[in-house]
Amino acid sequence: MEEKPVINLEKIPEHVAIIMDGNGRWAKEHGKARIFGHKHGVLSLRNVVEGAGEIGLKFLTLYAFSTENWNRPKVEVAALMQLLVNTISKEVSELNKNNVRLLTIGDIKSLPNNCERELEKAIEKTKNNTGLTLVLALSYSSKWEIIEAVKSIAKKVENNEVSINDIDEKLMDENLQTALIPDPELLIRTSGEHRISNYLLWQIAYSELYFTNKLWPDFSKEDLVEAIVDYQQRERRFGLTSEQLKK
Ligand code: FPP
Repeated sequence: MEEKPVINLEKIPEHVAIIMDGNGRWAKEHGKARIFGHKHGVLSLRNVVEGAGEIGLKFLTLYAFSTENWNRPKVEVAALMQLLVNTISKEVSELNKNNVRLLTIGDIKSLPNNCERELEKAIEKTKNNTGLTLVLALSYSSKWEIIEAVKSIAKKVENNEVSINDIDEKLMDENLQTALIPDPELLIRTSGEHRISNYLLWQIAYSELYFTNKLWPDFSKEDLVEAIVDYQQRERRFGLTSEQLKK
């Protein structure tokens, strides 16, 4: 019988991004309202953040609320925002205990004032932590982010700070919300959906994709390890041939 591969701690990806999907279906399976699924989703989030720190990931980016999610029923949006405020204020000491730095990407100004304030406080309180960086994508969409980056570069051209010929991948990287964050080597999506849903489109150009049927509230740190083990079995060629990589 073939042995099950184990995680190689010398080949841990630096950055894993996750689309946490399936809270609503999980709640339905349990005969409960959608928010019940989101509340259980927070428990998974906590467990996975803890696991990411233990494995030694440097960055974990979680899709917590997309630009498109604003179109959900008002009660669900309000409940998610409340959950966000409660979770952040409750978890900040745990983040500090585990040496986790919090960052956000997305249109944070579009969040309710109390959310924005709570996030700013948590970012400030955790800014000197040197372990895992937890990046929450909130009111985030990749097309929005790319448009903002293009606008900011256009402004620099208009002000003669940058010439058109200077526009390259590096300049785009620097003008995205994820400036200073390396591209994810691995993107995980839960709940059996095989979509990217406007998430980190620029940054995942060469990411390995991992899909699992598990719904987000059932996803745990053990599942994160399983995804990383799967990633470690793959050969990342970046457009080269296998033979070139072996040289
Ligand atoms: C997707 O499930 C999940 C979300 C839209 C929100 C993710 C939020 C959390 C895990 C909890 C709140 C976050 C924080 C940071 C406190 P879905 O509702 O799309 O599920 P469905 O596809 O089954 O309907």
